[in-house]
Amino acid sequence: MYRITELPPNAYLDWLQQQGFDEKQALHLKWLSKDMNEHDDYMADFMTVFQTIERWGPGTDADSLKALALLPTTPQNIIDIGCGKGFSTSLLAQHTTAHITAVDNEQNALDELADRLTKLQLDTRVTLSCSSMTELPFTEECFDLIWSEGSAYIMGVEQALQQWRPLLKRKGCMVFSDLVWLTNTPSPEADEFWQQEYPDMKTVEKRLAQIQQAGFEVIDHFKLSEQAGFDYYNPLKERVIALKPSMPESLAIADLEREIAIYERYPTEFGYHMFVLQK
Ligand SMILES: C[S@@+](CC[C@H](N)C(=O)[O-])C[C@H]1O[C@@H](n2cnc3c(N)ncnc32)[C@H](O)[C@@H]1O
Repeated sequence: MYRITELPPNAYLDWLQQQGFDEKQALHLKWLSKDMNEHDDYMADFMTVFQTIERWGPGTDADSLKALALLPTTPQNIIDIGCGKGFSTSLLAQHTTAHITAVDNEQNALDELADRLTKLQLDTRVTLSCSSMTELPFTEECFDLIWSEGSAYIMGVEQALQQWRPLLKRKGCMVFSDLVWLTNTPSPEADEFWQQEYPDMKTVEKRLAQIQQAGFEVIDHFKLSEQAGFDYYNPLKERVIALKPSMPESLAIADLEREIAIYERYPTEFGYHMFVLQK
């Protein structure tokens, strides 16, 4: 689910300017990404696709549990940022005794998570917060674990490391997954696609350097399993094929088709990586 344009139009513009782009550059970037007038239709189509998709990013329970097992301490107070429908949230609730705060700015996704937690009788262990990852409404040092699967890229990984770090108690941990380059010499087609969709994508080495620069110690890191990609892209591909006849002109559908094709064509050039860190 790679859309840097997923913030509302004005918020996106503000956000670009906060990142240091002047207004002209920000508008140019917006125009390059998507026509401003088509933004709402684009996002509506995008949400139509993802409505019935369970995972909103690559991941498996096994990969999440592997990261959880690497933590040096037992978390008591976790924040799951950009939780989507909350697979990681419910997994963490089942495999820890912690209280979990699950944050996303998509209320529909949080509603689905609420239903799942109720069915699992885990609802008293989780607080849902419909808020923005860029302005988290929590005080400093109130969590001992930040969890974020496939979401930190939205505000920029470096920015997320910097802005979220104060939320952690002393020696608190952070686990996040991110799409990384697995090669320094990507094929031109893959390079061109990701320059457009995720220009800040880095190699693992570059991300590790940024992580250390941000004041975290790297406990461990690993490539997500192949299953993580299948579990995300296979249902997504089926959904796109099913919807295309009724949405033949949709730019969102066209972009997702392209992303799936790039994933299928260049599986060795990029992939998801999990980082396990300590403050
Ligand atoms: C790629 S999805 C990952 C979702 C989930 N972690 C998963 O793996 O299924 C990114 C998530 O970030 C959420 N999101 C996007 N912008 C956000 C923001 N500004 N604040 C909070 N959440 C945001 C989206 O609604 C979406 O659920």
